[in-house]
Amino acid sequence: MPEIAGIENLIDIDHVKADNEQQKSHKVSGVWPKLRVQHISKSFQSKNGRFYVLEDINLEIQQGEFVCIVGPSGCGKTTLLNIVAGLEKADSGEVWADNHKINGAGTDRVVIFQEAALFPWLNVVKNVEFGLKLKGFNGRERRNTAIEYLKMVHLSKFQHAQVHELSGGMKQRVAIARALAMNPEMLLMDEPFSSLDAQTRWILHYELQNIWLKTRKTILFVTHNIREAVCLADRIIILSTSPGKIKKEFLVELPRPRDDNDVNVAEYSTRIMKELKAEIDKVMKCEMDADSCIECDIKCTTERPAKTDIGGGI
Ligand SMILES: Nc1ncnc2c1ncn2[C@@H]1O[C@H](COP(=O)(O)OP(=O)(O)O)[C@@H](O)[C@H]1O
Ligand SMILES: [Mg+2]
Repeated sequence: MPEIAGIENLIDIDHVKADNEQQKSHKVSGVWPKLRVQHISKSFQSKNGRFYVLEDINLEIQQGEFVCIVGPSGCGKTTLLNIVAGLEKADSGEVWADNHKINGAGTDRVVIFQEAALFPWLNVVKNVEFGLKLKGFNGRERRNTAIEYLKMVHLSKFQHAQVHELSGGMKQRVAIARALAMNPEMLLMDEPFSSLDAQTRWILHYELQNIWLKTRKTILFVTHNIREAVCLADRIIILSTSPGKIKKEFLVELPRPRDDNDVNVAEYSTRIMKELKAEIDKVMKCEMDADSCIECDIKCTTERPAKTDIGGGI
């Protein structure tokens, strides 16, 4: 269990900026950030007009940082992740990975989706081996690498199992092993645990933290679950909605591995939830009173997310 630390270890970056520029511990001077998102805006055309999803998003992620993006359902988290992955084009702005501009998908950035997206016709080890063929690994190298990463997610005993024989949590662990086997520069995770039960999520939070401690991969993780973000992240970025903008950032300086049920994790989650309340209220107002909402006229007349699912786990 992590040792108890005080609430002072949750650092509001706006305060840090105001108090002391030197304290911005997420900045490493003289080194390219692993990821730079610069002035990204994105809109979609709907039958009622243009719908602005993201507006002037700027963020930097350093090598080895674990960053969570949190925001209400429909605020543009997946759109932002897809732009970083190169799966979606922004209207304006640029994304840089190290010193190259991102123009499309690349094996340096591997995405893990909400559903594991494994190949059902391949067994577990062959799923993990799959991408390695494209990287030019021979048969033996593929097998050894796949088994190394299956061991990391504690699934080597299931290497010959078929995908349909696995639980949801096991499938996500295979997806993580498959992503890590590619040795990407960055893992992009889009609510990968949101369809799992609370107990499985708790186990996977612990496992992902241990994997991160071993590999120190740069991770950009999207979630609507604040407690999950506090449990996992070095830094939490809060997105507002309609359009999505960066509202606030927090550094979480709690020792790892953290436990979902730890008193500090709960306390930090409550504090961040307060920051998000205004955003949740905005979404709720829009959903409950779509006919008379004047704040986001275009958005309210277009299709809305089915529910406001922010704040799970608090
Ligand atoms: N391809 C698309 N065409 C039109 N609207 C889209 C498209 N992709 C996403 N949207 C809309 O953009 C908004 C943000 O979506 P998304 O990024 O999936 O939000 P989040 O992941 O935060 O729930 C939603 O209202 C969604 O309906
Ligand atoms: Mg999403």
